[in-house]
Amino acid sequence: MKYIIAMIQPDRLEEVQELLKKSGINLMTVSEVLGRGRQGGVTEVYRGHKEAGNLLKKIKLEIAVNEAFVEPTIAAIMKGAQTGKIGDGKIFVLDLQECLRIRTGERGGDAIG
Ligand SMILES: Nc1ncnc2c1ncn2[C@@H]1O[C@H](COP(=O)(O)OP(=O)(O)OP(=O)(O)O)[C@@H](O)[C@H]1O
Ligand SMILES: [Mg+2]
Repeated sequence: MKYIIAMIQPDRLEEVQELLKKSGINLMTVSEVLGRGRQGGVTEVYRGHKEAGNLLKKIKLEIAVNEAFVEPTIAAIMKGAQTGKIGDGKIFVLDLQECLRIRTGERGGDAIG
């Protein structure tokens, strides 16, 4: 299992969600966050809303998936979020040790989707 964290531009969220849905990925956590990439939030100000301290508004997606869904998830995020401009975002892929559905006590792959 992997835990995929993606930072994307807020205006790409709808498209990314649509593509994820088409790949059968529906469970996710979405947060509005502030972030800074290597430009320090300065030169990409034209794309977003400048915030205090050179932080820019981004969307953080968190998706836990079984192995079969790792590449489809990455592909959907890449397709939906890549414009080729600075600040398009990043994807982090972490090994996921365990997942439990609290209601039923299911674990691992059974609990994830
Ligand atoms: N190394 C990192 N650690 C934690 N968060 C990061 C890291 N790099 C980027 N982020 C997060 O991802 C967001 C988007 O990053 P961004 O796309 O600007 O990356 P970048 O490395 O500056 O690439 P680019 O040159 O394409 O802009 C940042 O605002 C920040 O929230
Ligand atoms: Mg950047």
